[in-house]
Amino acid sequence: MDPDAAIETRELTRVYRQRWRGREIRAVDGVSLKVARGTSFGLLGPNGAGKTTFVKLLLGIVRPTAGSATLFGVDCRRPEARLRVGYLPENHRLPSYWTGAGLLDFAGALSGMDARARRRRIAELLDLVGLQEWANVRLSRYSKGMLQRLGLAQALMHAPSLLLLDEPTDGVDPVGRQQIRAILRELEDQGVTVFLNSHLLSEVELACREVAIMDRGRLVLAGRVKDLTAGKGYLVTAAHVPEALFETLRAKAASAAMRDGLAEFLFPTREEANRAVDVVRAHGGWLESVTPTGSTLEEVFMRTVRPQTPEQL
Ligand SMILES: Nc1ncnc2c1ncn2[C@@H]1O[C@H](COP(=O)(O)OP(=O)(O)O)[C@@H](O)[C@H]1O
Ligand SMILES: [Mg+2]
Repeated sequence: MDPDAAIETRELTRVYRQRWRGREIRAVDGVSLKVARGTSFGLLGPNGAGKTTFVKLLLGIVRPTAGSATLFGVDCRRPEARLRVGYLPENHRLPSYWTGAGLLDFAGALSGMDARARRRRIAELLDLVGLQEWANVRLSRYSKGMLQRLGLAQALMHAPSLLLLDEPTDGVDPVGRQQIRAILRELEDQGVTVFLNSHLLSEVELACREVAIMDRGRLVLAGRVKDLTAGKGYLVTAAHVPEALFETLRAKAASAAMRDGLAEFLFPTREEANRAVDVVRAHGGWLESVTPTGSTLEEVFMRTVRPQTPEQL
């Protein structure tokens, strides 16, 4: 195991016995994943993919059936592994009679912080999540977005190095989501490793540098968002392209090839592709096709995640 990795799992597996259905379910199935320190990592997958179970395994809430996991090189089954971790559970319910400051104070006390350190940290965090004016207001008056921001602050009380967030923007409106993303970016700048689960693709695409896609317990894809969506451009193919023209266009294209008498050029932008088409046609060439290439994360996602039948949900 790599002690420099914030998270590392090897063939991590969790099987649940669903007695009422008379079957076993491999909620997490042989997942090997490494998350470097200081990055923002998004685990993406449809409902039931196993994302929550994965986070619960990392936190020692659920025990692995097989395989292993470490946080900063410490086995997840050991309580010390959790010292440097902050956690915001999915669908959390904070008692509505608490005030924002009261909740943070309680969270800090649970982490063993003394009263002075708690006071200082509460002011700092309320400022980070933009809830200074709400410090002494009961949570029953908070909006969903505010509760999520307070949940983030609660997870950050003991200044963890790793933040695990399960569906942090679920049920939050677009403005609230934007605020949460800004906070996460700020944390990343401070060197905190952020690992979030989401079934919302755009969320992960906007908030994370790296992403893994999970489907039915298995990891189907992992990489940098930038690499997974790379290669966007327009592929122009044409026949009867004179050799001299081929060479001229080759110099301008991102890549070019001559196959079975067909010239192929990849241009990064639509403008360049259009200009090339004009030139080819002006020189007696025949346009065969212009095809957009590369993918959005959504296309990558739809290609890698198989459709689910209601039975499997
Ligand atoms: N405690 C449990 N007992 C039995 N089955 C469970 C339990 N928790 C989750 N599952 C099943 O494991 C699968 C993955 O669930 P979960 O990790 O919550 O997925 P996700 O967070 O991606 O929606 C689902 O099929 C779910 O029904
Ligand atoms: Mg979940």
